[in-house]
Amino acid sequence: MRILVTGGAGYIGSHTCLELLNQGHEVVVVDNLCNASEESLNRVKELTGKDLTFYKADLLDADAMNEVFDKEKVDAVIHFAGLKAVGESVAKPLEYYHNNITGTLILCDAMRKHGVKKIIFSSSATVYGDPAFIPITEDCPKGKITNPYGQTKSMLEQVLTDLHVADPEWNVILLRYFNPVGAHESGRIGEDPTGIPNNLTPYITQVAVGKLKEVNVFGNDYDTPDGTGVRDYIHVMDLASGHVKALKKFADKPDVYIYNLGTGRGYSVLEMIQAFSKAVGHDIPYVIRPRRAGDIATCYADATKAEKELGWVAERGIDEMCQDAWRWQSNNPNGYRS
Ligand code: NAD
Ligand code: UFG
Repeated sequence: MRILVTGGAGYIGSHTCLELLNQGHEVVVVDNLCNASEESLNRVKELTGKDLTFYKADLLDADAMNEVFDKEKVDAVIHFAGLKAVGESVAKPLEYYHNNITGTLILCDAMRKHGVKKIIFSSSATVYGDPAFIPITEDCPKGKITNPYGQTKSMLEQVLTDLHVADPEWNVILLRYFNPVGAHESGRIGEDPTGIPNNLTPYITQVAVGKLKEVNVFGNDYDTPDGTGVRDYIHVMDLASGHVKALKKFADKPDVYIYNLGTGRGYSVLEMIQAFSKAVGHDIPYVIRPRRAGDIATCYADATKAEKELGWVAERGIDEMCQDAWRWQSNNPNGYRS
């Protein structure tokens, strides 16, 4: 298939472009590079030995989006583009709602005008809020969401669902990611956050490489085996292959399909620090801090629906996640900027 990948220069997008090319698909990327570098796409081309088409364009620019669809005959869209920092979204709700919601409305309008009605959307386990039960199946009710970023994910799931109701030709796949980590095994592409990372694993690797002093562990009094938060960390290459497998669903009757992409296994913050220490070859220093506002104790997936319906399972374990993240960070201490 010929796939338009929005946000394709970003962390998950670049790994998915690589996997799409390796599986024989054609790729067109639209990204405004607000949180990415074109260098990631150069490296995807280098790693795959294949070409892709890149448009530096903003989803908020309707003319630019229509022009892309005029020029490129694509079969489907994988929609990653969006702002994603939870804390920043609390401080800048208007920017988050505008970019993520309006950007998606403009994208879908351009798709509709050009008869492209197949979309895979990057959603998040955040839509479950503090989950009603664990492990979380897709039937778990959506929960109370504590930040504008998470709200945009939940609202956009509804927007895309309503689009299918209004026009049943729309085929919508909502992928709810758990916690993406790691990097391509080559160490050439990976996660490149600007400033001090908000998420646990890039923070750990920056401590390991000596850019930050110690890991702040946000709370050790949760109702979990060691008191620290438990999450379902999933290797970004497994996540990427989940998108490629999901494309097959477009051959089925158009509907709204929802899948959790996780491993089904939870690890605590301390277990993650330990696993990284092993990968890095020395102890990673940490201190216990108070809980972070809005965090929940435990979040991990029941991913059997994706296995049954997409034939997809996460194959890479915790050691591979840490080794690959470390290879990326140690080879590229300044990300794509070096
Ligand atoms: P990322 O920031 O690396 O990638 C997002 C990309 O979108 C960036 O390259 C950015 O430049 C681009 N972008 C943002 N707004 C745009 C706009 N208006 N027009 C064009 N391009 C725009 O983030 P990521 O980690 O790769 O996440 C990809 C998607 O997955 C996002 O929608 C994110 O919310 C979702 N997601 C991420 C996680 C995670 O932990 N990384 C978890 C769940 C869901
Ligand atoms: N944590 C620390 N120290 C840090 C950062 C995080 O102890 O410096 C802890 C958190 O308290 C939590 C765990 O590590 O227990 C994971 O935190 P992250 O910030 O890495 O990830 P979250 O689970 O909070 O959220 C991530 C993404 C969201 C997405 C969600 C999906 O940031 O966008 O996963 O489950 F919605």
